[in-house]
Amino acid sequence: MNSPAFQGLPLNPPAFVKNAKLIAWVADMVALLQPDAVHWCDGSDEEYNTLCQKLVDAGIFIRLNQTKRPNSYLAWSDPSDVARVEDRTFICSKSQLDAGPTNNWVDPVQMRATLNPLFKGSMRGRTLYVVPFSMGPLGSPIAHIGVELSDSPYVAVNMKLMTRMGKAVYDVLGSDGGYVPCVHTVGAPLEPGQKDSRWPCNQTKYIVHYPETREIWSFGSGYGGNALLGKKCFALRIASNMGRDEGWLAEHMLILGVTNPEGRKYHVAAAFPSACGKTNFAMLIPPKGFEGWKVTTIGDDIAWIKPGQDGRLYAINPEAGYFGVAPGTNALTNPNCMASLDKDVIFTNVALTDDGDVWWEGLGDPPAHAIDWQGKDWTPALAKETGAKAAHPNARFTVAAVNNPAIDPAWDDPKGVAIDAFIFGGRRSNTVPLVTEARNWVDGVYMAATMASETTAAIIGAQGVVRRDPFAMLPFTGYHMSDYFQHWLNIGEKIAKTGAVQPRFYTTNWFRKGEDGKFIWPGYGENMRVLKWMIDRIEGKAQGIEHPAGNSPSFEEITWTGLNFGADQFKSVTAIHKSEWQAELKMHDELFTQLAHHLPPALVQAKQTLSQKVNAQA
Ligand code: GTP
Ligand code: SPV
Ligand code: MN
Repeated sequence: MNSPAFQGLPLNPPAFVKNAKLIAWVADMVALLQPDAVHWCDGSDEEYNTLCQKLVDAGIFIRLNQTKRPNSYLAWSDPSDVARVEDRTFICSKSQLDAGPTNNWVDPVQMRATLNPLFKGSMRGRTLYVVPFSMGPLGSPIAHIGVELSDSPYVAVNMKLMTRMGKAVYDVLGSDGGYVPCVHTVGAPLEPGQKDSRWPCNQTKYIVHYPETREIWSFGSGYGGNALLGKKCFALRIASNMGRDEGWLAEHMLILGVTNPEGRKYHVAAAFPSACGKTNFAMLIPPKGFEGWKVTTIGDDIAWIKPGQDGRLYAINPEAGYFGVAPGTNALTNPNCMASLDKDVIFTNVALTDDGDVWWEGLGDPPAHAIDWQGKDWTPALAKETGAKAAHPNARFTVAAVNNPAIDPAWDDPKGVAIDAFIFGGRRSNTVPLVTEARNWVDGVYMAATMASETTAAIIGAQGVVRRDPFAMLPFTGYHMSDYFQHWLNIGEKIAKTGAVQPRFYTTNWFRKGEDGKFIWPGYGENMRVLKWMIDRIEGKAQGIEHPAGNSPSFEEITWTGLNFGADQFKSVTAIHKSEWQAELKMHDELFTQLAHHLPPALVQAKQTLSQKVNAQA
């Protein structure tokens, strides 16, 4: 074929697509993007298998050993395209003030002028996949529909696992339903006869959101949150705008159910920044000494939370799969996760073993030889000599939620689950204690607003840098952060007015380090001990100890059965050091100076009270 067929390219929408607005939009986009073909995804298993086979034939997917890892594949990305690009992510509201100082902003008219020539012809030589998806259970009143147009078949198959994707979405859309338009191109058009690269992408990247018109435009990356647009772009950045307008919350939170031996069940939503333990906590298996306790997963990354008729907050997981961090995951740290990965998985950027299986740092004994995520030979000796990693630190797995043996029976319930507690947890080597309960909703919002974390490999850029990450939403709040704080305060007041019990707020830190540079707290399943204390607090069984930042457990209040962790060690993960907190408060000041516009006065007041308490400490 010598010339691109886009002019007059037949759209051929299947009979099940009845939405005229959608068909007209696809026609407009075909004219702009100029693909060689259009594929309307129906979301069937047959389509999934065909596309995966196509990816295998193109050398993009490696089919893994069918006995060891049935129906599973491995992809290796371009070394320049391995994580979210926060400095290339934009919130293009009409007014810069609406995006706020924590977001990159460009005037939408100017951004459209910049993007138009980039998107024009960007799909030449490729197939445009029309990917219809529902965030939330199909047809539920809390769900929202998106349609992603992408020239990446990798994106299409990942969206099948991560969302409710396919034909049924068109039934919900009907002839005149609305959807969030999401346009994605890897930005690598092919000239006639040009050989494709294994992982096409572009050095220039733009991840762009227009909050007022609820649109997403993503250029140049094929990886994760940059490209699977239902996830961070829609379910957080655009949905946070919807939530502000409509009175609900879109959060970077796992949701879990925890049942005690008496059979009482509670629900917890926890916000930890990227690669700080959400997937692990959501799949926690209670350790020895916790017989009769049970933890079940509703979601591992995103929560949509809405006030119910009874005044309580109800959370749903808008996703239908997990895009989780592989390194560090093993049969001891997260057995439920390992079981989820037995079959039907897409791995990205892990190593390939000689027997056609996968390996990553922290999985267990290394193989004598493997092919690393860049396609090179890897051996333990080489790793020792050069530090070469077999898997990229942000290597991930994509798997449907139903693969999880600990899935909660209500994970798919459109009503959602009533939240009893919120947890906010950063990755901090010092300062922040293992667990603190906030005195009240406003103090809780303050604690969440001022939390910080060391950056991880989930983001392109420097690692291990402490930065403020309010609510673990710094890269995901699609409007002004101060207005977002106010929105949280408003929700709390609204609950109080109904007379319903407000969820409690906790902060956690699993990551304090000792002088040897090692984590002091054992973490993972042992985090159950902290979760139990929270439940004990909610049930009025634990008194805790008051301190400037809130209330924390005494050593005696934690159940230690099955773990050798002494009072001194406990002190080293819970102690509040005055000098550290004075330094911490200075950093809260810096954040509040940056966010001065619309900063809720209640938070300024909370800071003053905290400062006084810290300074009054001996
Ligand atoms: P995103 O998907 O990026 O939003 O991340 P996440 O919050 O779901 O992170 P995940 O649970 O995948 O954990 C990321 C890394 O943190 C992995 O390497 C884990 O091994 C490690 N990790 C998780 N929980 C703990 C813990 O309790 N203690 C320690 N020390 N490490 C942990
Ligand atoms: C995160 O970075 O918080 C993730 C992975 O959950 S990604 O989907 O790439 O955003
Ligand atoms: Mn995440």
